[in-house]
Amino acid sequence: MIMSAQDSNKNSRRNFIGTTVKAALVTAVTGSQLHALASTKKITPTFAPAVAPVLVGKSFTQLPLPYAYTALEPFIDALTMEIHYSKHAATYAKNLQDAAAAENINTNSNLEDLLQKISGYSAKMRNNAGGHYNHELFWQCMKAAPAGTPTGALATAINNSFGSLDAFKTQFADAAKNRFGSGWAWLVVTVDKKLAIGSTANQDNPLMDVSAFKGFPLLGIDVWEHAYYLKYQNKRADYITAWFNLVNWDFVAARYEKAIQ
Ligand SMILES: [Fe+2]
Repeated sequence: MIMSAQDSNKNSRRNFIGTTVKAALVTAVTGSQLHALASTKKITPTFAPAVAPVLVGKSFTQLPLPYAYTALEPFIDALTMEIHYSKHAATYAKNLQDAAAAENINTNSNLEDLLQKISGYSAKMRNNAGGHYNHELFWQCMKAAPAGTPTGALATAINNSFGSLDAFKTQFADAAKNRFGSGWAWLVVTVDKKLAIGSTANQDNPLMDVSAFKGFPLLGIDVWEHAYYLKYQNKRADYITAWFNLVNWDFVAARYEKAIQ
């Protein structure tokens, strides 16, 4: 379903309200109580369907998750998803709004345009514009297992660029495992329409003019510890292996076809 920007904003506001109410409930409980509440779905908000790939990342507003917190289990647990979306990612979106207000940026403009000239703005803008964009893309890059396989032009491009899907996974996983500290690993389309794998630190991304690794991001994996530590602790490699079961290849293929037009 393709939503208009107006519909998207309305949905985002509704979700924000739901998330805020839920966040208040979460604040009132701790430990095992929180886990029990999350597992019973009593505090799960209404989720919206996935948005069109071309819309992802253009908005300054947090979009609804396209699935329930429980949808990615057993590979990513519901509590990790809830905290990740409603706390970490929601904070990036709020701080982005605050930074935009402070730096006189119109929040109805295209976020991807801002990222491409991020060197002209504050560190707060860089961290939160990147954090918001990266997470909005990340949610859409995943779906309930099984992942399936790439199709169409993307499948051909992966085979031509990396040799096979398995070879791609190995190279992508290496980029994710070897990113020191917090950051992201990416599959991108470069300016000459080639596929490339790389990584960025912190909340930087390949759209940013400050990034050494550049391209249009098709697929990204969050390797900050908040993305996996509850279930996988220090075993980042196990999280990465499990994560391949969740890749939404239809979404990635749609972004690829848009990028090479
Ligand atoms: Fe994250």
